[in-house]
Amino acid sequence: MYTQSFSVQDAPGLKAVDSAAAEDPKLMEQFQARIDADGRIEPQEWMPEAYRKTLIRQISQHAHSEIVGMLPEGNWILRAPSLKRKCILIAKVQDEGGHGLYLYSAAETLGTSRAEMLEALHSGKAKYSSIFNYPTLNWADIGVIGWLVDGAAIMNQIPLCRCSYGPYARAMVRVCKEESFHQRQGYEALLTMMKGSKEQRDMVQDAVNRWWWKCLAMFGPSDADSLHSSQGMKWGIKRISNDDLRQKFIDATVPQANVLGITLPDPKLKWNEARGHYDHGEIDWKEFWETVNGNGPCNKERLATRVKAHKDGQWVRDAAMAYAKKQEQRRMKEAA
Ligand SMILES: [Fe+2]
Ligand SMILES: [Fe+2]
Repeated sequence: MYTQSFSVQDAPGLKAVDSAAAEDPKLMEQFQARIDADGRIEPQEWMPEAYRKTLIRQISQHAHSEIVGMLPEGNWILRAPSLKRKCILIAKVQDEGGHGLYLYSAAETLGTSRAEMLEALHSGKAKYSSIFNYPTLNWADIGVIGWLVDGAAIMNQIPLCRCSYGPYARAMVRVCKEESFHQRQGYEALLTMMKGSKEQRDMVQDAVNRWWWKCLAMFGPSDADSLHSSQGMKWGIKRISNDDLRQKFIDATVPQANVLGITLPDPKLKWNEARGHYDHGEIDWKEFWETVNGNGPCNKERLATRVKAHKDGQWVRDAAMAYAKKQEQRRMKEAA
C-alpha cells in the first residue's frame, strides 16, 4: 500500500536522493538498457546511487507500513466477535508482520541495516502509510480495512511484482497472495454483517463512510503533483501511475459495494460510458497532508505503541542472539 513514498518525502535528516548526473554514463546506459528490456537488477550488481536510495526509501516505508498496520487491527484481536473471526484476524495481523520481515530483508540487500531503518521509524524521521493513523472504532472497521485498505494495497502492489529490483519484486509475489486473503476475509466479514440486524448494517455503512475517501488518498496525489513519479517509472520501480491505480480500484470496488448493499459516500460517483470508467468526486488532499505530516488522529499513539513494542521485545532479541551464539560455539567445538 504503501508506495506513497514517490509522493511523500521522509522528514529532513534522512539523506536526500541525489541526481543521477554524477554517475558513469556508460554504466548508466547499460543499467537503463537492462531495465528497458524488462531485466531485473540484483543486489551484487552495479546500480546508480539514486536508484539505491530511492529503493531504500520506498521499501523501508513499505516495511514500516506493514508493521504499523498491525496496530489498528491488533487492537481488535481480544474483541473479535467469535473464535473464527479471532483466528482469522490473528492470522492476518501475523501476515502483516511477515510482510514487514520480507521487506526489511529486501531493503537490507541495498546496504542499509534493520537497526537504521527502525531508528528512522521510531524517531519519526521515516514515514509510513498515513491510512494507519486513523482509529478503528468498531468491528465493522476491521472488515472495511480488509476489503478497502488491503484491496487498495493489492492494486498498488501487484505492479510491484514486476519491479526492476529483484529482491523487492520477489518479496511482493508472496505478499500479494496473502493480501488477497486479507481482502477476501474483510469482504466476507462485511457480507455476514450485512445479513444481520439493522444495527450491524448501519455499522458497516458508517465504517465505509469513514474509510472510503482515506482509501482513495492511499494511492497518493495526482501524478502531476507527485514527486519522483516519472523517475520511478523510468527505472521500472513504479509501473502504473497513481491516478490510473486509483481508477482501477474504484472500478473494481463499485460492483462489490453494490453486492454488499452499501452506498459509497460520493455523490459524484457515476459510470462514464464514454470513458469506460467511474467518475468520482474530489479528494481532500489537505487532510491527507495533515495526516502525513503527523497531525492525524492517531499518529502519536501509533508511534508510541510501536516504540513500546520494540522496547518490550528487547529480551526476545537478546535471547535469540544468545541462542545463536551458543549454537555457533557448539558448532565450532564440534568442528575442532
Ligand atoms: Fe501486508
Ligand atoms: Fe494486508
